Amino acid sequence: MVAMDGQLQQTLQAVMEDPSHSWEGQTLVSHALLGLEPTDASMVNEHFQSHAPLYQLAIDQFNDQPSASHFNAVVTACENCHLGTCPGPLERIAKRRAESSH
Ligand code: HEC
Repeated sequence: MVAMDGQLQQTLQAVMEDPSHSWEGQTLVSHALLGLEPTDASMVNEHFQSHAPLYQLAIDQFNDQPSASHFNAVVTACENCHLGTCPGPLERIAKRRAESSH
């Protein structure tokens, strides 16, 4: 999870530092969420199981067509799963949202 968060931050930073804020060539790794060993097994509930594939879909869509809106769809997928499993990091995840709409 920390790696997933770090990757969002790095991707966002790379795009913002690029003079044309281009999303071209950016890709995200999905980190095979369903195979992760959670530190707290009680958080891997039905909500988790149903949202992991939606997160994967958002990642695939971004990798197909990297853009600010697809990036934000990934952030939304993070948030949607977190709402029902582990709301703690929601505030931190919200900071990953891309502002420009290139
Ligand atoms: C399918 C559900 C799901 C998705 C999608 C998801 N998370 Fe999580 N996340 C969790 C759960 C459950 C935990 C509780 C961690 C544990 O017990 O290992 C967690 C923990 C975290 C933490 C706390 C740090 C840690 O590892 O303890 C951060 C930060 C985090 N997630 C960020 C993200 C970000 C950023 C994304 C999107 C890139 C994301 N998460 C997507 C379910 C999800």
